[in-house]
Amino acid sequence: MGVTAGPRPEEMDDLGVPEHPGSHEEFVADPYAHYRLLRTAGGSVQRAHSGGRLLVLGHRECAAALRDRRLRHPLERVNVGGDQFRRMVHPMFTPAAVAARRRRIDDEVARLLAGAPRGPAAFEVVEGLARPLTLAVIGDLLGLPEADRHRLAAAPSVLSGAIDPDRIDPAALELAGLFGELFEARRAEPADDLVSHMIRYVGGDHRPWAESLARGCHVLLRAGYDATAHAVGNLVLALGRHPGGRKFLGGHPDRIPAAVQEVLRYDPPVQIVGRVAAEALDIGGARVAAGETVLLVLAAANRDPEWLPAPDVLDVGRSEAELAGQLAFGGGGHFCLGAALARAQAAAVMSALCRGPVQLAGTSASAPVYRPGFPIRGLAELHVVLR
Ligand code: HEM
Repeated sequence: MGVTAGPRPEEMDDLGVPEHPGSHEEFVADPYAHYRLLRTAGGSVQRAHSGGRLLVLGHRECAAALRDRRLRHPLERVNVGGDQFRRMVHPMFTPAAVAARRRRIDDEVARLLAGAPRGPAAFEVVEGLARPLTLAVIGDLLGLPEADRHRLAAAPSVLSGAIDPDRIDPAALELAGLFGELFEARRAEPADDLVSHMIRYVGGDHRPWAESLARGCHVLLRAGYDATAHAVGNLVLALGRHPGGRKFLGGHPDRIPAAVQEVLRYDPPVQIVGRVAAEALDIGGARVAAGETVLLVLAAANRDPEWLPAPDVLDVGRSEAELAGQLAFGGGGHFCLGAALARAQAAAVMSALCRGPVQLAGTSASAPVYRPGFPIRGLAELHVVLR
């Protein structure tokens, strides 16, 4: 989404902090305490305040709503991430295609950690690991030459915040120019990357498709970069606070894929997704009018005690089967296209920090700093100690 595949700016108001008695900072520091209070006071599906948006907090209700075709994704209007786009790019996201990238991901993690300070000096994870790793992976996937990648990093307004493929601003134009050059280069000389694949899919002359291809790349870039970088930050924080979990994973590498699902369940970067009701319907006994936006609080559903025992405990020993229903990647027809790729990056980081030559020894004394804004939850700064 992250989205990621997130809401459009005009819908952001609707996806703000669910009515909270304290400050924004208090909410961002621990949204889960608030979800818990809301659930205890008002149940799994509720209106946060009279006339407010419907909040869906329960796991069963969220999972059902994600699959309910009467509830539409806010971006369906422009059909980005729509069926045709999914079909076109899908081969690049299969587990086998992702497995083929794993070696390169592991190498990139090792390279970034090799230069990191060890011992008492703190290592800043967001700029030192999470962002450069995810940028390298998405750059590889799209087939962007190394020399051009700084042009992506120089477009922060495009890479964070809500996806808005229609917006025209200088950063978006810079990206459109970059993709235009890339399409020409890959048409002349195809390679094993997503842009070459798109061009093969649409046939020899990609020009009639240029705009929608560029939009697609833009969405993938946004979705693939921001949410994944935040997932890596949240994961390192969770591991930093759980020495027992690090030790367990150090001795049980086969449990890392399930542990990745567990940290994503526990602290997902995409906390809420919005849906618009195409017709009047009931959700968990609450009436929703046609045209109304409902908020599916994935992060609250992931901690629903009726779905999972002890949901507020991070337990890296949980099994994949137990965690199969976790909703950090959404569900239904808009299930995250990049889930396998995101999990591969998280697993590479987890494996390196629990078993590699440079290991995580804990978080440093300075408190983690969250980026402002919602519903994407991620760190602006995180200092850890490596050994
Ligand atoms: C841990 C990292 C990630 C998380 C937590 C995440 C989460 C999500 C969520 C919750 C959705 C569903 C949005 C909705 O239903 O409204 C979504 C959709 C999407 N994600 Fe991800 N995502 C991640 C990484 C990625 C990556 C690496 C890519 C691609 C390179 C990606 C591409 C997409 C796309 C294209 C969609 C739209 C799918 C559609 O609407 O059909 N995501 N993601």
